Amino acid sequence: MSILGINHEKNLSRLLVSTLSEKEVQKWIQKYSTPFKQLMSYYQCAIMEVVTKFNVLNEELSLEYDRNPIESIKSRLKSPESIIDKVNRKKIPLTVEDIEQNINDIAGVRVICSFQSDIYMLADAFLKQDDITLTEKKDYIHSPKSNGYRSLHLIVEIPIFLHDQKRIMKVEVQFRTISMDWWASLEHKICYKKDVAEYEQIKKDLKDCADIGARLDERMELIQKKVDNSSVIHE
Ligand code: GTP
Ligand code: MG
Repeated sequence: MSILGINHEKNLSRLLVSTLSEKEVQKWIQKYSTPFKQLMSYYQCAIMEVVTKFNVLNEELSLEYDRNPIESIKSRLKSPESIIDKVNRKKIPLTVEDIEQNINDIAGVRVICSFQSDIYMLADAFLKQDDITLTEKKDYIHSPKSNGYRSLHLIVEIPIFLHDQKRIMKVEVQFRTISMDWWASLEHKICYKKDVAEYEQIKKDLKDCADIGARLDERMELIQKKVDNSSVIHE
């Protein structure tokens, strides 16, 4: 699969023009195009490793719990445009090495869980694996963001095994319940490229929806526990 297609290369050079001279852009593309593509393919491999780990956990835990703790797994490789945008925002030097060192979310995996307790159980089981190193954790479930955003974010390092080397790659893993995910997806859609900061009522409405989502999560989990503990419901 080509990760950096012709259109991407055109867009990439267009974005770079805003910060560099034409000559510098040409030089960058010439010098870094191949290593950049290579780095992106390493991140794609790291995504595959992480996704496989969660598929394995889901398979194994489904036997123990009699249900799948994972609803779905999504993954994405950050686009070259977003990478360059972040490089500009964070004032990172424009080299492949600096991009790898300073941008933690080029490889992203999102694990959508059935219940909040599944999130912590899966995160624990994942982090216990001896090839995974945790480098950063943000728990927006115990401490939601002021806009209502809830999710557990981990930045981990994971090895990928290539034909002639082992390489350690960073991956951002986000854990959400279905309700955390629908809120985040819709909030992103509603607010993307719009400045809602001044609209107090809109911010309050979005926060209310997030809080309702959190309460629904709690209620559904309670119902699930009751059913699980009940000896009444037996086939
Ligand atoms: P950057 O990674 O530089 O953006 O900053 P950061 O590392 O401080 O971000 P953080 O780990 O808090 O969040 C990174 C990702 O979480 C974003 O790219 C989104 O996918 C998601 N996210 C964080 N906050 C929000 C939010 O308020 N709304 C939505 N919809 N998503 C969010
Ligand atoms: Mg981040």
